[in-house]
Amino acid sequence: MEVIEVKDLVKRYRGNGFAAVDHISFNVESGEIFALLGPNGAGKTTTIKILTTLLKPTSGTAKVAGFDVRKDKDSVRKSIGIVFQEPSLDWRLTGRENLDFHARIYGIERKAREDRIEEVLKLVELEDKADVAVDKYSGGMKRRLELARCFIHYPKALFLDEPTLGLDTHTRRRIWDYIRELNDSEGVTIVLTTHHMEEADYLCARVGIMDRGKIIALDTLKNLKDLIGSDLVSLEMDASSNVEVFKKLDFVNDFRKYDDFVTLKMERGDLRIPAIMEVAKREGIEIKSVNLRKPSLEDVFLHFTGRRIRE
Ligand SMILES: Nc1ncnc2c1ncn2[C@@H]1O[C@H](COP(=O)(O)OP(=O)(O)OP(=O)(O)O)[C@@H](O)[C@H]1O
Ligand SMILES: [Mg+2]
Repeated sequence: MEVIEVKDLVKRYRGNGFAAVDHISFNVESGEIFALLGPNGAGKTTTIKILTTLLKPTSGTAKVAGFDVRKDKDSVRKSIGIVFQEPSLDWRLTGRENLDFHARIYGIERKAREDRIEEVLKLVELEDKADVAVDKYSGGMKRRLELARCFIHYPKALFLDEPTLGLDTHTRRRIWDYIRELNDSEGVTIVLTTHHMEEADYLCARVGIMDRGKIIALDTLKNLKDLIGSDLVSLEMDASSNVEVFKKLDFVNDFRKYDDFVTLKMERGDLRIPAIMEVAKREGIEIKSVNLRKPSLEDVFLHFTGRRIRE
């Protein structure tokens, strides 16, 4: 069953000459974790705001849990949980009070509320900080509390806009594990946005890659990676080097040049590196570094846009 259905969605902000969201379509199935991945200004937050009824689309349709985001706002709101890109906790209240306030808004009865608060605190491991004011929380703790808050009312779908923005690697990984556990234990459908390839890779089977308001690729990570190739060998060298010689190697299936880097796509790169170095030596090209890797989302992005993801 589709929990999210987006068709031909467009958003133009007043005064902008371009569409922040430009005819995008995608569906997310029940229980899925789906990521919108893209650089700054791609249109991710705008999409999330439309799906959570905070912004009206210019045209197109979007349904969440079967309800139209334009015609049935209240039903959509009851079916979803959100973590915003900007923190939105009440810092003067304790963690528990923040959760309690939220649960009351959703009309959860006192006993059920108390039980549920214990349950969500446990999932994000904040039981012992529950009665501390939020302004004494670290960035990671605040994020965990926001995560706990967004699913307290048993939503069908969660929207997490950059759930690990500004967090260190260790905390980020913990948040990922909570997101996974939440998805596992409650079967909730999750749409998240991220700049981080590793994040989408860790959490999602399927991604939509957004760039300048458009979804430029929509597929499973596996398919996207298959498209790019099995092994990539990147060579760092002077940008003026004659790189055509690498293109001519019979085991090289594809070839990209970017600044000082040439990336060659091939099978069994581990066995081919000596031959590549041999050619470089013969042609008098000084190789400054060699990197052998499996394709990342960065490569996928480069493949579709010809640009790097962080520009
Ligand atoms: N309220 C607004 N008024 C006018 N333009 C806006 C508004 N909000 C966003 N935009 C523009 O719409 C485009 C998409 O912005 P959006 O915030 O959706 O991107 P994003 O993918 O979430 O980026 P980031 O990764 O930086 O969070 C950008 O060009 C942005 O400048
Ligand atoms: Mg954003």
